[in-house]
Amino acid sequence: MFFHPLCLILSSLFLLFTAQNCSHALHSPNGTIESPGYPYGYPNYANCTWVIVAQEHNRIQLVFQGFALEEDFDILSVYDGQPSPTNLRTRLTGFQLPAPIVSTGPRLTLWLLSDYAVSGQGFKAVYEALPSYTCGNPGQLLNGMQQGSTFNIGDKIRYSCNQGYVLEGHTVLSCLATSSGTAAWDFPLPYCRGESGAPMCGGQLRGPSGIITSPNFPVQYDNNANCTWIITTSDPSKVNASKKHT
Ligand SMILES: *[C@@H]1O[C@H](CO)[C@@H](O)[C@H](O)[C@H]1NC(C)=O
Ligand SMILES: *[C@@H]1O[C@H](CO)[C@@H](O)[C@H](O)[C@H]1NC(C)=O
Ligand SMILES: *[C@@H]1O[C@H](CO)[C@@H](O)[C@H](O)[C@H]1NC(C)=O
Ligand SMILES: *[C@@H]1O[C@H](CO)[C@@H](O)[C@H](O)[C@H]1NC(C)=O
Ligand SMILES: *[C@@H]1O[C@H](CO)[C@@H](O)[C@H](O)[C@H]1NC(C)=O
Repeated sequence: MFFHPLCLILSSLFLLFTAQNCSHALHSPNGTIESPGYPYGYPNYANCTWVIVAQEHNRIQLVFQGFALEEDFDILSVYDGQPSPTNLRTRLTGFQLPAPIVSTGPRLTLWLLSDYAVSGQGFKAVYEALPSYTCGNPGQLLNGMQQGSTFNIGDKIRYSCNQGYVLEGHTVLSCLATSSGTAAWDFPLPYCRGESGAPMCGGQLRGPSGIITSPNFPVQYDNNANCTWIITTSDPSKVNASKKHT
């Protein structure tokens, strides 16, 4: 067999582009979006778009279920409508689960761009078309609870935090009719903050090696500290934690 080198180059370019075409147009009223390879990591140089289109007078609610992108280098941009700079709603990166997003119109666009190295698990989100009379679920709290399970105009949702956490924001959200003929929550989702006295701890680490210290190190750590560190390397099988000092 003989291959002209140009053929090889052209066919591998073709494979590269077809393998990486991750433009999605989504027209069903609800569904799930995952970054390629989720949760085992998205490719470097990913350039993916998801365009969600609902029926007229509907809005789209996007709720994240998993989120881990290389902080500051891999970005998920969310556009309220077409992907133009004026429609940019938010740029998401890092390891924190983003709050739910509700579009103002019947179109929402997600755009994932990754750089040449290091990836995270990626992201997973569910979306749902919201009719004009509903606000949609404002979201669950990390370390807290939600009471109320209907999200239409006139409904109220109450939030509380687990023991050891205090609520920041409004305890009760009300779904109100808006002047534009749709519905919206009167306040943003509150969150649960660790009670003062609980040390700030945990963090995110990148790269082949690094140092983790417990709170107040080298002083003894507080009782009941509960800290999480997220360690990202380009190869998840190679996380090697060796304990140096306690
Ligand atoms: C990628 O897929 C989308 C949707 O299936 C299609 O519209 C687009 O033309 C494709 N792009 C390339 C470069 O093949
Ligand atoms: C869409 O919503 C319906 C009704 O709530 C549900 O039964 C179905 O599983 C959902 N589909 C997806 C893909 O989430
Ligand atoms: C991403 O893909 C789009 C459409 O194929 C292209 O116009 C754009 O230049 C790409 N961006 C990058 C940073 O590769
Ligand atoms: C530590 O915090 C995590 C996440 O907030 C929680 O799931 C876990 O149960 C906590 N562990 C203890 C021992 O409190
Ligand atoms: C982890 O790192 C320590 C210190 O660098 C080394 O002694 C140990 O052999 C490594 N363990 C593995 C499984 O690579």
